[in-house]
Amino acid sequence: MIPTLSIDTDRLQRWLDELAQFSEAAPPAVTRVLFSDEDLAARAWVKRRFEEEGLTVREDAVGNIFGRWQPATETGSTPAVATGSHIDAIPNAGRYDGTVGVLGALEAFSALRRAGFRPVRPLELIVFTAEEPTRFGLGCLGSRLLAGAITPDRAAALTDADGRSLDDWRAKAGLAQDLANVRLHAGHYAAFVELHIEQGPLLERQHTPIGIVSAIAGPSSYRLRLIGEGGHAGAVLMPDRHDAGLAAAEIALAVERAAKSSGSPDTVGTTGVFRQLPNAINSIPCDVTLEIDVRDTSLDTRTAAWAQVEAAIAEICARRGVRWTLDTISANPPATCAADLVETVSRACAALNLPSQRMVSRAYHDTLFMAQICPTTMIFIPCRGGVSHRPDEYSSPEQIAAGVRVLAHTLAQAASQ
Ligand code: GLV
Ligand code: MN
Ligand code: MN
Repeated sequence: MIPTLSIDTDRLQRWLDELAQFSEAAPPAVTRVLFSDEDLAARAWVKRRFEEEGLTVREDAVGNIFGRWQPATETGSTPAVATGSHIDAIPNAGRYDGTVGVLGALEAFSALRRAGFRPVRPLELIVFTAEEPTRFGLGCLGSRLLAGAITPDRAAALTDADGRSLDDWRAKAGLAQDLANVRLHAGHYAAFVELHIEQGPLLERQHTPIGIVSAIAGPSSYRLRLIGEGGHAGAVLMPDRHDAGLAAAEIALAVERAAKSSGSPDTVGTTGVFRQLPNAINSIPCDVTLEIDVRDTSLDTRTAAWAQVEAAIAEICARRGVRWTLDTISANPPATCAADLVETVSRACAALNLPSQRMVSRAYHDTLFMAQICPTTMIFIPCRGGVSHRPDEYSSPEQIAAGVRVLAHTLAQAASQ
């Protein structure tokens, strides 16, 4: 326990405000798509803040940024205790998702330094590349590569909606090294703890300032292409149509039905991308791409729900005379957090007189993949109305400071042994 830990809430708020200025959307919305000009400027800004706070900065081949606090007496072989999150933001997002876990952790490091704390283990702050799937349709690109959950070849083959490859974007970002060097193995880190806004309503409803994550729901995502037959919206009579847009609409409803009837309240299904060609009011949709996201805390109910969707796709397409191809973008099992780290966070909350509760993260986070190479947990703070991925996302300075305090104590404990 560090008796005199004081959090510089004003400076942290200033940092969050400054970072929110790097945006492709007008305030209060924040849009920072991976390696856009705004994202690159934000990354440069973050690296400067890390350096100002005395961290040694390195960047890997995919753009994961590492800020290291190296103990003077340590030779470089002791596994570090790591924390961090992401700074990319989906279109029309808010300013707290991810950023609280990066800038909050930076403030946690600074507060520990000001309090005279001397870690035994190195501390490392990681900004993961592309936690959001916006550019390549695949979330957590940086942490997946780091944990070996995706091969460098598969990552290199990713292209965005305009056909630009990851290598193309890496070149723009000045990242020339080999993607194979991103991987870190089990044992590289002693622990990883991510601070994040809850993105759901439970903490606020229960007036609990801190959530301690014991498990993360397993996400899966799919890309479905539907090829029907185009034609004139006036001239082709209804019995003769093979409308790919209507097949897509039925499939989106089938996704909803499968999630709702899975028997588990934790199954969620979303058809979030719906791109159709030619996208003209007087032309029958002939080529539609859907991206579908299905998640669950249980792999069994998720698998069963997805099997139901696949059966619906086959039936709907056969009935409508529409051809289809289906790709799995990713399908990951749920992650279980490390009991002893959960306990360390719980003890930090008790010592700070902050009520806490254990919870499941229904959103995915880089922690899902860090859990494949080291013990992990997450610290959640409330956000207003449970709102996230929206411009009106909000956590108060006091709520954020409480999370930073718990993070700092947790890191101090983990880095002291
Ligand atoms: C992460 O942003 C998610 O979609 O859960
Ligand atoms: Mn997000
Ligand atoms: Mn996030």
